Amino acid sequence: MSVRPVLKMGQPLLQRVAAPVTRFDAELLALIADMDDTMRALDGAGIAAPQIGVSVRVVIFELKDNPRYPQLAPVPYTVLVNPLVTPLGAEQDEGWEGCLSVPGMRGLVPRHRHLRYQGVDQYGAPIERTVEGFHARVVQHEVDHLDGILFPQRVRDLRDFGFEDALLGRMTPMPD
Ligand code: NI
Repeated sequence: MSVRPVLKMGQPLLQRVAAPVTRFDAELLALIADMDDTMRALDGAGIAAPQIGVSVRVVIFELKDNPRYPQLAPVPYTVLVNPLVTPLGAEQDEGWEGCLSVPGMRGLVPRHRHLRYQGVDQYGAPIERTVEGFHARVVQHEVDHLDGILFPQRVRDLRDFGFEDALLGRMTPMPD
């Protein structure tokens, strides 16, 4: 398995609606292994298959206990295939997101605070969770990738979008 190049914002494949997974086979496991290697090599909290150039509905994410983000509860390592996200309630949080496809930049993005997500894992076993906070945020960010949406499209005011080093002092970065 291998670390793959990550597509950057502007590449058309990132703007496509990705196709559902229909076969739970060795090819899918190989894709997930490459996503996993790539996410870990870049110290990411999540990655979606289109980011390594494969337009299918697969995301992975994880947040370990991390001293850089003491305010965030850990998120278990999850492989989520064909996800469905259902917001719960109207409450939203704003957070400074980043993305492996938008390196060096950050933006203030509103996300649903509470949601339920459903889908299956890499073997087709069902997953259903009700989550909140950063866990809900990372799911929304990654599932957006499957619909061709990158976080800058969610920024309400472009003054709240810019280079990480220039924004230091006015933002608390979230894992990306
Ligand atoms: Ni991203």
